[in-house]
Amino acid sequence: MKKLGILLSGRGSNFEAIARNVQAGKIPAEIALVISNKPEALGLARAKDMGLQTLCIPSKGKEREAFDREVVAALKEYRVDLVCLAGFMRILSPYFVREFPRRILNIHPALLPAFPGENAQRQAMDYGVKFTGCTVHLVNEGVDTGPIICQAVVPVQDDDTEQTLAARILKEEHRIYSEAICLLLDDKVRIEGRRVLRK
Ligand code: GAR
Repeated sequence: MKKLGILLSGRGSNFEAIARNVQAGKIPAEIALVISNKPEALGLARAKDMGLQTLCIPSKGKEREAFDREVVAALKEYRVDLVCLAGFMRILSPYFVREFPRRILNIHPALLPAFPGENAQRQAMDYGVKFTGCTVHLVNEGVDTGPIICQAVVPVQDDDTEQTLAARILKEEHRIYSEAICLLLDDKVRIEGRRVLRK
């Protein structure tokens, strides 16, 4: 059975969606470890409630790579095959990325390459796009720049607030994150340059 490692910093709704699909047998893997860099993260408490192995590795005041070395050591100790960033609000060091080549996934609440970085939903509203969405991609050394595995399109409505738009996008995030995990675990995709293609 393949092992997933989840990294989160906050609410953890993407983590929960993945965990539910694992429990339901829809993702052929187990969650070996959930790590938060924030002690107060709601997602960490939820993971504990679910009886999962959890770890808090505070990032505050640490050099990026020193923190990443602790996280990588924990992921290796639990023999994690695939790392899923689920609202993990930190940029990974090149060291981390090299330790898990093509085995780190991230979810971003916009149609990349549009609106990378923070507050992607607000960026989309401010820009005035009529459609935005979400992206699951492999993590490389850039910020939100890795090869794209899945995307979903979400319309922006005239009466949207940042919150209503974020909620509509989040529903799709929960759906496509598990889809992307399955594509990788089932070995259904090949990577050609930036393109992730079905085998
Ligand atoms: C999600 O919308 C995710 O796409 C976003 O943070 C939220 C976390 O929610 N991630 C980023 O913006 C990464 N740049 P969650 O904790 O409920 O899964």
